[in-house]
Amino acid sequence: MAREKKANQVTNNYGASMEKIVSLAKRRGFVYPSSEIYGGLSATWDYGPLGVELKNNIQKIWWREMTRFQENIVGLDAAIMMHPRTWEASGHVENFSDPLVDCKDCKTRFREDKLPPEVLESHKCPECGGELTEPRQFNLMFSTHLGPVADSASIVYLRPETAQGIFVNFKNVVDTSRVQIPFGIAQVGKAFRNEITTKNFIFRTCEFEQMEMQFFVKPGTDEKWFEYWKEQRMKYYIEQLGILPENLHFHQHGPDELAHYAKDAYDVEYHYPFGWEEQEGIHSRTDFDLGRHGEYCGKEITYLDPRSNERYVPYVIETSAGLTRSVLVCLMDAYHEEVIGEDKKGNPDVRTVLHLHPNVAPVTAAVLPLVKKDGLAELAKDIHKELSEDFNSFYDQSGAIGRRYRRQDEIGTPFCITVDYESKDNQDVTLRFRDSMEQIRVPRAGLAARLKEEIRKYKRVNHE
Ligand code: GAP
Repeated sequence: MAREKKANQVTNNYGASMEKIVSLAKRRGFVYPSSEIYGGLSATWDYGPLGVELKNNIQKIWWREMTRFQENIVGLDAAIMMHPRTWEASGHVENFSDPLVDCKDCKTRFREDKLPPEVLESHKCPECGGELTEPRQFNLMFSTHLGPVADSASIVYLRPETAQGIFVNFKNVVDTSRVQIPFGIAQVGKAFRNEITTKNFIFRTCEFEQMEMQFFVKPGTDEKWFEYWKEQRMKYYIEQLGILPENLHFHQHGPDELAHYAKDAYDVEYHYPFGWEEQEGIHSRTDFDLGRHGEYCGKEITYLDPRSNERYVPYVIETSAGLTRSVLVCLMDAYHEEVIGEDKKGNPDVRTVLHLHPNVAPVTAAVLPLVKKDGLAELAKDIHKELSEDFNSFYDQSGAIGRRYRRQDEIGTPFCITVDYESKDNQDVTLRFRDSMEQIRVPRAGLAARLKEEIRKYKRVNHE
């Protein structure tokens, strides 16, 4: 426990640590421990008013980039519970397991493949020094029963990945939506895994959300598309989510890491204070999935190319990102403690700011009347109402203006709009930029268009 506490305090160059992120997330309403009034439930989390905005924004951007801005990718929303044969065909019943060891004394469970070499050698529990059991394979799928009779015939699984919903609908989509290879199917949704190790906040949880896209290609062109999607996906993190490029890299899976379905795989990894960890997997899945589903359902799943009349089982390039894990990456990467001067006692004045990309910030603009009286509140409320048509706008009239700016900085609001006495006479407002704290005067008319332009131009910079 003490070891874990210390690990949570390790900071990155910006002063972010897991402990600080968890605390800010709770304090400002991003993420709460689930069922907290009953003492919480291990490794389950609820997304609060700001968290749900951040998560929804990430999902919206992903969907926009992966479907609307692509000519040849369509969407899908498949059921969480699927025919159990799905998971036999996909290989999950047989292969989706982790090696588990238990401490005979304190009963803590560990994934053997995540234990450091010295623990593996001594076979002693890293928590209490007790003896560890021999490893056994532990299947990560949650099962339940569909219908009133709880027997083996009624077993269904909560899907451990959204991808299979796409594969089993391949033919439906081809038959109904005029797509032609190469094309993709995208889906966002919940997935469930009975993870043995669930620490690090929302990094690894048993219930989480994925954003997956399966891109179907002609065999032989798969390597070209694999490279294409690798490049696109890295660009997305930097340009659309505003993650600092120096905190991202690719990790290629070695032969012992490759999933049972993969010919080649690269992870987009993020540099957490506790090390580099996976954020997204880009997998070359060949014809494994469509081939297996064809075999298990008794009907070959093939594609007839209308241009060449060739029939084949398509190969698949998959991009598989964690949505809930993206929330953590965005918070971790954006968090910055900055000394911006001295307070009245001569101590460093530190502001906590989230440099979130405006694409994902839970509040895009905060509208603040300098004072409540003399019609300034009414004017500010009008502006707030107008902006709410296009953005998540927030109205705040309480407290000193400096304190209000700081409150917005801490939740990552990129723009503050201040309404003062001059605004009444001149029909203009102050626009304050979160990152630079620069303030400029802009006309009230066309404010929404101005913010859109600022969002389009936004470029994340390293503030170190
Ligand atoms: N369909 C392929 C697939 O599911 P994966 O590498 O097992 O591949 C993809 O998962 C992504 O889903 C990961 O990169 C991660 O972001 C997210 N993910 C996986 N397990 C998770 C968990 N237990 N908690 C949170 N996110 C998880």
